Amino acid sequence: MICLVLSGSTIEENLSQFSLNRPYIDLMELRIDLLGEHARVAAAEFPSMVDLPVILTCRRVVDGGSYAGPEKTRLALIESCLEGKFAYVDIEEDVKRCAAEQKARERGIRIIRSLHDFSGIPSDIFHRIARVAAKGDIPKMAVTPHSVLDLITLFRVKEELSSVTEKIVLGMGDFGLPSRILYKKIGSMLTYCADKPVAPGQISAQKMKELYRADKVDDRTRIFGVIGNPVLHSFSPLIQNPGFHGINFNAIYLPFPVDSVRSFFILAEMIKISGFSVTVPHKQAVLPYLGKITREVKQIGSCNTVVRAKNLWMGTNTDYYGFIEPIVADIDAKRIQSALVIGAGGAARSVVWALRNHGCRVTILNRNIERARQLADETMASFDSLEHAAHHAQVDLIVQTTSVGMIPDADGDPIPDFPFAERHVVYELVYRPRYTAMLKRARQAGSKLMFGIDMLVRQGKLQFESFTGYHYPKRLEQNLGLEED
Ligand code: ATR
Repeated sequence: MICLVLSGSTIEENLSQFSLNRPYIDLMELRIDLLGEHARVAAAEFPSMVDLPVILTCRRVVDGGSYAGPEKTRLALIESCLEGKFAYVDIEEDVKRCAAEQKARERGIRIIRSLHDFSGIPSDIFHRIARVAAKGDIPKMAVTPHSVLDLITLFRVKEELSSVTEKIVLGMGDFGLPSRILYKKIGSMLTYCADKPVAPGQISAQKMKELYRADKVDDRTRIFGVIGNPVLHSFSPLIQNPGFHGINFNAIYLPFPVDSVRSFFILAEMIKISGFSVTVPHKQAVLPYLGKITREVKQIGSCNTVVRAKNLWMGTNTDYYGFIEPIVADIDAKRIQSALVIGAGGAARSVVWALRNHGCRVTILNRNIERARQLADETMASFDSLEHAAHHAQVDLIVQTTSVGMIPDADGDPIPDFPFAERHVVYELVYRPRYTAMLKRARQAGSKLMFGIDMLVRQGKLQFESFTGYHYPKRLEQNLGLEED
């Protein structure tokens, strides 16, 4: 079930959140601690105004809520609200026997016994869940994983406590996000969503339902994802999930913030991840875990796509192909024979190797000339310092691989003196903004422009093929929803 946490300060505001989210949710949590004094009095009426089950909750400040009054008053408030037709009431695990509890039982309102840990995961989490469940109540553990290893503990809940059918388990914060999205895989009966996050890591109900289709995850759903740090703003879920849906492929693709690649491979075995994208800073760190790699991965020393192949993990590099694909015809027809590559970092490595493997002459320009020299030695390319860019105006292709010009440095131009001309093909890897300062100059000069966003989408479509064995659905290509949330 997808549960919407109502964060309004009035009943009207909550009703409006409810109707906006109605298509995406199965139940709601009314947080009376967030309501104004007047609205609290009317809270009991709320369940009769909506056609979905409602959880009654009055969260204390210590548990991340807003209720700061005396405990006695809080419990009395909960008790009085239980006159309403609530389906569940959330009473914290440490609250001793109280009148609210008794009233809930009399009225057939199920009790959720919650524990919030904002600092970590209690060492006896499994025991606590089992103890609450033994009393017939629903245990809820909202805890804070700080690493992939912590996340593994949460995913173990499903096996360890398979006999407890009704329980709520979730990881808060960045490392917890996979547990919110894969809530069914950890055996949690629901996941919480909100328009405005009221707990760390909550996402909107629409995203949970429409992008991730988290409630449709079943035993046959294949799990894919992207690992990185940071990774939560990756575009890849916006490419992969609609693609899966478009070809009726039972799969989900989600971001995994990863601190340790080693731990992630343990998690991947444990929850049977079928494949994943790899982004900064892990593109090199995954290599020791791969049983099979392609020639490009070996050359570049970097892998951005991992798929499970029988008993081993196989690594490819779709950045390489996503980059070269649109210019291969021009290279083959000798319209592009020489290139200037700006930068000598990770992105430049894929670019230079792709160009060299296709027979293009390459000159690498980099701020740190030593780095340019090293990459040039390895790839049999030339190199020069960034200030000499204008000396290389005779090249056919210019590729910009540094972060200069990327938001928030939108005015940055790594080669401000370079005389762009109509005959140049200018390939910018930065995709935010679409037109960098450098591309604007090239556009004015009439050069042919190639955009970073298109390369990003191309490499994503190639990943989709590795993951599913199918082409990316053509009809979805135009509307790849690439806006950030
Ligand atoms: P990526 O994987 O995105 O290529 P990277 O490996 O950190 O990231 O490489 C960053 C590249 O951008 C490098 O070529 C870097 O130049 P240095 O090797 O001299 O550091 C380049 N770069 C970053 N900021 C730059 C700046 N302000 N001016 C010029 N080059 C810059």
